[in-house]
Amino acid sequence: MKNKEKWFEHIFNNSGVGILIVDKNRTILEVNKTFCDIVGYSYEELINKHARVLHISDESSKKFGEIAFNTVLENNTLDLEYKFRHRDGSSIWIKITGDVIKDKQEVLWIITNINKRVMFQEELAKLNDTLNSKIDSQIKILREKDRQLQYQGRLAQMGEMLNMISHQWRQPLMSISATTSFLQAKLLIEEFNQEEFLNELHLIDDSAEHLSNTINDFRNFFKLDKQKVITSLEDIVENTLKIVKPILLNNQINLIIDFKSHDNIYTLENELRQVVLNILKNAEDAFIENNIKNRTIQIKTYSKNDFAYLDISDNAGGIKEENLNKIFNTYFTTKSSTNGTGLGLCMSKTIIEDNCKGYLTAINNKNNGATFSIKLPIKK
Ligand SMILES: Nc1ncnc2c1ncn2[C@@H]1O[C@H](COP(=O)(O)OP(=O)(O)OP(=O)(O)O)[C@@H](O)[C@H]1O
Ligand SMILES: [Mg+2]
Repeated sequence: MKNKEKWFEHIFNNSGVGILIVDKNRTILEVNKTFCDIVGYSYEELINKHARVLHISDESSKKFGEIAFNTVLENNTLDLEYKFRHRDGSSIWIKITGDVIKDKQEVLWIITNINKRVMFQEELAKLNDTLNSKIDSQIKILREKDRQLQYQGRLAQMGEMLNMISHQWRQPLMSISATTSFLQAKLLIEEFNQEEFLNELHLIDDSAEHLSNTINDFRNFFKLDKQKVITSLEDIVENTLKIVKPILLNNQINLIIDFKSHDNIYTLENELRQVVLNILKNAEDAFIENNIKNRTIQIKTYSKNDFAYLDISDNAGGIKEENLNKIFNTYFTTKSSTNGTGLGLCMSKTIIEDNCKGYLTAINNKNNGATFSIKLPIKK
C-alpha cells in the first residue's frame, strides 16, 4: 500500500503536465512539481494562498473567477488558452483544462506550458506583417520604375520624332528661304516679272503644304490609340517608310522591298509601326557605327501556317553572339548614353508579344548583318 502511494506521488509530481487543485473559494489546495516549475513558485509559496497570485492582474483574476471558474462549476469542464503570471513578473501562455471533483466542491486544473508555441506564433505573425509591408513597398517601387520606364520611353520617342521632323523639314524650309532670297534680290534690282513672281510664290506654297503634311503624318504616326484594327504588315511597313525613308536614303541605305503576304492582321497599328521604326533605326545606327559602305535593308513579308511574317534584314555588321540574348533586356545598349537608352527593343518585344500576341526574334544572317522577325497571327 505504502509503495503504491509513493508511485502515485511520483507520477503526480513528475507527469509532464502541471496540476492545480483549488476549492470553491479559489484557495489553492494542492499543486504538483511541474506546476511549480511552470509558474516559478515553490510548493509552500502556493499552498493555502488565493489563486489570484497566479494571474497577471487582480482584474484578470476577477474575470477568470467570474467566467472560467463558474463555467467549470456549471458545465463540469473547461478548456482554454490563458496567460498566467510567473513569479518573476513575466507572463506565460498556458493551456488550462478544468474538471470538477469532490461533489462540485473543488476544481482540478491541468496546465500545459504553451508559451513557446504562442511566442512563436506571435513572432510569425509579426514576420508576416513585415513581409507584407515589404512586399507592398517593393510593389510600389516596381510600379514607380515601370512608370519611369514608360516616361523615358516616351521621351526617347519624342526626341527621335523631333529628329525626324527636323530632318524632313530642312529641305522645304531651305527651298522657302532660297525662294524668298531670290524674290528679294529681284525686288532690289527692280526686276518685276509677275508670272515669275507667281511661280515662285507657288513654290513657297508647295513647300508650306509639304511641311504641314509631314506634321500630319507624324501626328497620325505617334497617336496612341489602343484600339486594334484590321490591317496588314504591308500597310504598316509602307506607313512607317513614309516617315523614315528620307532619313534612310540620306544615309545611303538601299531598301529592297519584297511583299508576299498581304494577309490581314488584327492589331494595334501605331504600336506596330513604332516597332518597325525601332528596328529600322537600329539598323541605321549600326550602319553608321560600323561605317558600312554598301548599305542594304531588306524588308520581306510572307505567310505560313496561319501566321504573317515580317523579316527586316540588314548588312550592318550583325549582333555580337554574347549580346544576342541580351538585346531585348530593359536598358541594354551598346551605344553611348547620348545615342541609346536601351529601351527600343525591350518596348518592341512587349508590344509584339504582350499586346499583339505575336513573336519578335533576332538572329544574325548570312550577309554580315542582323535579321529581326515579327510573327503575328493572321486574321481569318
Ligand atoms: N540591326 C542591328 N545590328 C546590330 N546591333 C543591333 C541591331 N539592332 C539592335 N542592336 C543591338 O541591340 C541593342 C539594343 O537595341 P535597343 O533598340 O533596345 O536599344 P538602343 O538602340 O541601344 O537604344 P534606344 O533605346 O535608343 O533604341 C543595341 O544597342 C545594339 O547593340
Ligand atoms: Mg534602338
